[in-house]
Amino acid sequence: MAKIAPSILSADFVNLERDIHNIEENGADWVHVDVMDGLFVPNISIGIPVVQALRRVTDLPLDVHLMIERPIRYVEQFVRAGADWLTIHIEADQPQNTLEALDKIRALGCKAAVSLKPRTPAEAALPYLTKCDMVLVMTVEPGFGGQSFMADMMEKVRFLRTTLDRVNPECRIEVDGGVDAVTQAVCKQNGADVLVTGSAYFKAADRAAFVKTVQS
Ligand code: DX5
Ligand code: ZN
Repeated sequence: MAKIAPSILSADFVNLERDIHNIEENGADWVHVDVMDGLFVPNISIGIPVVQALRRVTDLPLDVHLMIERPIRYVEQFVRAGADWLTIHIEADQPQNTLEALDKIRALGCKAAVSLKPRTPAEAALPYLTKCDMVLVMTVEPGFGGQSFMADMMEKVRFLRTTLDRVNPECRIEVDGGVDAVTQAVCKQNGADVLVTGSAYFKAADRAAFVKTVQS
């Protein structure tokens, strides 16, 4: 069964607590939190105080996606703020720092993940596959919700699933961007087991039914 992680980037920030409780009530598994610094991606979203605040109102795992330059500078603060899963981008720093950041995240008792932008080849993730608990394959250019799903990323998901089955079978694969009631199927067929959904979840006429479709 796949997990669904609604992204609060598409939530109503004035009513964040209401929307978080709605995510719980509709049976979703994780809450996906998109952190953007205006440098790694051309958008600015939310940061540490919001993660802290969310931690106070939900027991659902907080899946924090850092789209920031040199994430090693902030991983400790995000874990202490309440992240259960912390994702860093491999394009955001030198490999040595990425490895060090992953070790740091795990040493703090948090699950660590690496993410790849659409133009980053799957092979670029190889040095990190035994050092992380999840790989996040971006299926849109990171930065904004509501973009179209890039189906050509499915080959990357397949390659990573096959490789992980050999070197780190417990490692999850998450997809993020343009996942909706239609595209979710191909993600799961190719080996993704955590699906982020921003606009599709919040726009769904029947959110509980949408959650079930993605989980099935
Ligand atoms: C994009 C973010 C996504 C975004 C997904 O940079 O990482 O998590 O919220 O939104 P949708 O599902 O609308 O593509
Ligand atoms: Zn995200």
